Amino acid sequence: MARSVPARPGDTHASGNARQTRRNFLMATASSAAAPAFARALTADSAQAQTAHRDPRDPSIVNLRVNGRAHQVTLDTRTTLLDALREHLGLTGTKKGCDQGQCGACTVLMGGRRVLSCLTLAAMAEGQAVTTIEGLAGTDGALHPMQQAFIDNDAFQCGYCTPGQIMSAIACVREGHAETDADIREYMSGNLCRCAAYPNIVAAINQAKAATQES
Ligand code: FES
Ligand code: FES
Repeated sequence: MARSVPARPGDTHASGNARQTRRNFLMATASSAAAPAFARALTADSAQAQTAHRDPRDPSIVNLRVNGRAHQVTLDTRTTLLDALREHLGLTGTKKGCDQGQCGACTVLMGGRRVLSCLTLAAMAEGQAVTTIEGLAGTDGALHPMQQAFIDNDAFQCGYCTPGQIMSAIACVREGHAETDADIREYMSGNLCRCAAYPNIVAAINQAKAATQES
């Protein structure tokens, strides 16, 4: 036997059963009417919470293609291409000099164009072929003509700037900016050499430009 709900001051008429039915009906109606709004509020809250909890320092997966090999790395999204190459892939041939875009030591090719990898986010390299100094030699170990020319012309002393010089020199030739010594000096001016091997670098580029255009 169903229990009757005690009458409330507002329930001034009708029987106990009628009052129970009416109150239950009103409560049920109110609940079902509020449910969609409540659900919407919950969804909005949880979306907001997810957005609020998305920390830019949370690692992201980045797919890189370097020297013909695919790599998947988990990185802080603010990681530079230079740090991704050196710290995550172990490709330390690309050098960190100033780390602020002023010396050219970190030059690599991305999509065939030279970039300063210290000013390029690793995430920006997704979907583009990246070539570093380690990717120039042939599979048989034969040096790229520009690498050989740097050796032949003594175009380095300490060697710290050399990987960036060579990557930049290859791009300089392919861009068509190596027609004259003045052009070479101008378009290589972003690559500094503290050992001042500049005349030898120009000579190396002159030696290798024909072979580099064909490579
Ligand atoms: Fe990138 Fe100096 S390390 S420009
Ligand atoms: Fe030493 Fe260029 S060879 S900085």
